[in-house]
Amino acid sequence: MEKQLFSDVTKLDFADPQIDDLLKYSIRTQLESMLKTQLTASERQAVLQKSFIDAIRLVLIDTKVEHQQLMAAFETMYDCAVQSMAQAKLSQELLTKQYVSPTGLIMSPHNCKHTIKDIYRIKGYARGIDQAIRGMLKNKAQITVLYPACGPFAPLLLPLLSYYKEHGVFSSDQIKVSLIDAHPGAVLSLQQLVEDLALEDYVEHIEQVDATEFIPESSVDLLVLEAMQHGFTKEGQLSIAKHLVKYLSIDGWMVPKRISIRGMMVIGETEFNQQWKEVDYSHSEYVNEAALNDRIELGELLRIDKSSLLKMQEVELANGIKVVAGNLITIPKGVADMGERVLAIYANVETFAAEGVGQYDSGITHPRPDMTFYVDAKPKEVEHTHFVACGGDKVQFYYQLSGLPGFVPVKV
Ligand SMILES: C[S@@+](CC[C@H](N)C(=O)[O-])C[C@H]1O[C@@H](n2cnc3c(N)ncnc32)[C@H](O)[C@@H]1O
Repeated sequence: MEKQLFSDVTKLDFADPQIDDLLKYSIRTQLESMLKTQLTASERQAVLQKSFIDAIRLVLIDTKVEHQQLMAAFETMYDCAVQSMAQAKLSQELLTKQYVSPTGLIMSPHNCKHTIKDIYRIKGYARGIDQAIRGMLKNKAQITVLYPACGPFAPLLLPLLSYYKEHGVFSSDQIKVSLIDAHPGAVLSLQQLVEDLALEDYVEHIEQVDATEFIPESSVDLLVLEAMQHGFTKEGQLSIAKHLVKYLSIDGWMVPKRISIRGMMVIGETEFNQQWKEVDYSHSEYVNEAALNDRIELGELLRIDKSSLLKMQEVELANGIKVVAGNLITIPKGVADMGERVLAIYANVETFAAEGVGQYDSGITHPRPDMTFYVDAKPKEVEHTHFVACGGDKVQFYYQLSGLPGFVPVKV
């Protein structure tokens, strides 16, 4: 057993405290899951299926469910999904390999597995997807759903499909799903999970491929996508959406239907510390009125929806780096404490109908401070990466698609 666990790690790796921590964690989760697997395979699968159905039922009901109850249900779903992942027997390398593709970060399954616990992101998406599917199936006998960059657990869709199957809401003749991920470890986990959930009839296609190169065999009715991090940085959401929007059927929908990326100048201590002192967890419901009023909004930097994606023009720079133009912003003038403020970039995610993921509901909508953007202030160190502007200046925001994506402000 020991040999198998350690086979991919050289002696030198043990000297690296980061790798050692990762290993200990991985060993612990594998051992914990071994203890739990005293259940037979069919018992484990039954527990797993129930955990998925229980968690999604709590987010689909319209009455308020306490945070603690949601946390417990999502934690159980996570534990069961990790046990399923353990059955896929990924090598240490497949579990922990993380790299940057031409269009963004490819996270390891080890790091991705936590997204199934991101309660309010899954809630906003699953409720939106549920309404989109119900709407489409009113007019069509069957729909195709594409979920690229779905990670090892495809958590925006697999719990919902488990619920549909259990309650006979929609059959596998009505919904045909394709799951796409670039990471071989994510794909192995997915295959195991789909089998464990007995969802093979709904999931007709699982493929390891870069989503920016994937060409679907038929047009897509519903494109479900979440490959973003806070401040709309690092992952390839925009490149993937821009490529795949072309394959939507004429009346096809995207979930999220709109992402609005906005900027604001904030006092860091008020926005990120003081306003959260009295609450147990950060959530849009608890955004503090005083902190809200203290923000200086800059407006929308970029909007991503079906029509903006179809119009968006890439600009290729001399070194092959691709960018798209966002909005032109005029920095407000005469703000007395502007020099003490930092730029924070945040996403408003409208998934579908009135559903969404609000500010602070998930890591993906946490405002992200950008410490390289100065207004009415001089950076202490002169760094070429720092951006310096004054109130009244016009700033054009570009979005870098290549490497690690993110915004690049340019003074006009
Ligand atoms: C944070 S996880 C995905 C989260 C998942 N969408 C969810 O809802 O929980 C990131 C996953 O996206 C995949 N990914 C990122 N960029 C990709 C790309 N261009 N093509 C295919 N998969 C990609 C990674 O391999 C990784 O498994």
